[in-house]
Amino acid sequence: MTDVRCDPIGPVNRFIVWVYSGKRPRVLRRLVSILFHIELPILRQPIRMAHPYGIIISGDVVLGKNVTVFQGVTIGNKRDGRRAGSPVIEDDVCIFPNAVVIGQITIGAGAIIGTGAVVVNDVPPGVTVVGNPARQIHAGSGAK
Ligand SMILES: CC(C)(COP(=O)(O)OP(=O)(O)OC[C@H]1O[C@@H](n2cnc3c(N)ncnc32)[C@H](O)[C@@H]1OP(=O)(O)O)[C@@H](O)C(=O)NCCC(=O)NCCS
Repeated sequence: MTDVRCDPIGPVNRFIVWVYSGKRPRVLRRLVSILFHIELPILRQPIRMAHPYGIIISGDVVLGKNVTVFQGVTIGNKRDGRRAGSPVIEDDVCIFPNAVVIGQITIGAGAIIGTGAVVVNDVPPGVTVVGNPARQIHAGSGAK
C-alpha cells in the first residue's frame, strides 16, 4: 500500500489559488486559464495542485479542505442519466494525474483516486480506487 504524501503548495500553486479566490478581475482568471490550461471554480479555500497544468474543475463542484489534484485531472458535471450533477470532494482527498471524477457523487475524506481512474460512483472515506470504472483496491493510508 502506498503512503501518499503530496507535495507542499509551491509559489505557482499559490498564485493560481490567489487568482481564483474570487476577488480578482475576471481577465486575470482568463489569462491564467490560457497559460496553464486550467479552469477552476471560485475557491473558498486553497487547493493543492502538484503540477498545475490541464486541470478542469466545474463551477458547481464542492471542494473540501486540503484537496490535492495532479495534472490532467477533470472533476465535472454529468449532465444526464444516473447520478446527473457534480461531485462533492471531501477533505484530504488526493486525485492523481489524468483521473476523471464525474456526476453527483461524494469522494469521502482522505480517499485516493489513482492515476487515470474514471470515477462515477461514491468513494468511501479513506479508500483507494483505480481503473475505469474505478474499483476499490484497499483502504488507503490517507492523502497528506
Ligand atoms: C493508486 C495508487 C496510489 C495505488 O498505489 P498502491 O496502493 O501502492 O497500489 P499497488 O501498486 O499495490 O496496486 C494494487 C493493485 O492496483 C493496481 N493499480 C495500482 N494503481 C493503478 C492505476 N493507477 N490504475 C489501474 N490499476 C492500478 C495494481 O496493478 C494492483 O493490481 P493487482 O492487485 O491486480 O496486481 C498508485 O498506483 C497511483 O496511481 N499512484 C500515482 C502515481 C503517479 O501518478 N505519480 C506521478 C505523479 S506526477
